[in-house]
Amino acid sequence: MGIVQSNNLLPEMPDHIAIIMDGNGRWAARRSMNRLKGHEQGAKAVREAVKGCLELGIPYLTLFAFSSENWKRPQEEVNHLMGLFKFFIKRELNELKKSGVKVNFIGHINKLPQDVQSLVELALNETRQNTKLVLTIALSYGGRSEIVDAAKRLAVKVKAGELEPEDICEENFAPSLDTAGIPDPDLIIRTSGEKRLSNFLLWQCAYAELVFQDVLWPDFNKENLENALDEYHSRCRRYGAISV
Ligand code: IPE
Ligand code: IPE
Ligand code: MG
Repeated sequence: MGIVQSNNLLPEMPDHIAIIMDGNGRWAARRSMNRLKGHEQGAKAVREAVKGCLELGIPYLTLFAFSSENWKRPQEEVNHLMGLFKFFIKRELNELKKSGVKVNFIGHINKLPQDVQSLVELALNETRQNTKLVLTIALSYGGRSEIVDAAKRLAVKVKAGELEPEDICEENFAPSLDTAGIPDPDLIIRTSGEKRLSNFLLWQCAYAELVFQDVLWPDFNKENLENALDEYHSRCRRYGAISV
């Protein structure tokens, strides 16, 4: 399937790419470095992914930065990651703003330290008007708890008499998720060779194409993004129907 532009048959690009950025710890271990160094290098790969999506004209990019289960990690690692999130937002915000990126967050942002929350607010406010790329960062995010939260929101409406239980459907469930207004991901990339979703976008992944790459996240670059797109373009998306 393709779109015709200037007599060239170009493959249809995904609207939404989501990435499970995995392998920072192993990247550091291979170099006999502390895991924390791997996270620092991982921040550079984030820039590559954002730049790549801007260049390719992908309108939505979602990055899994910290899962609801990652709180189980040693306190020192959690603190370092929180520091990196602050450092990243402070350092990148101007550039993101200038390049037309609208920053968005999903997950339990209220569980983050207050100073991280303040920067999250700042990033949201400063980039609200941008339209080129919606960059959603999943922080303290878990797919199951997102679904449970959505169910609670609908239950509140039912209790208030605003909604009948039999009227609950996929069309009003999806807008109750943190990702309201964002299309489902067409392509989910996971780096580091692991082949699992680890609680990422469980509702939204229903018909996503999954691409697993061996590259460790700090080494991820535009070539890896393009390879993932090549693999995506080689797939036939049927959504349960039959191909034409
Ligand atoms: C991904 O890298 C970053 C986060 C989960 C925060 P990891 O820290 O999971 O790296 P590995 O999987 O241990 O190599
Ligand atoms: C998933 O990676 C979470 C992020 C990339 C933020 P993990 O490293 O936490 O996942 P598991 O533990 O290998 O499943
Ligand atoms: Mg990992």
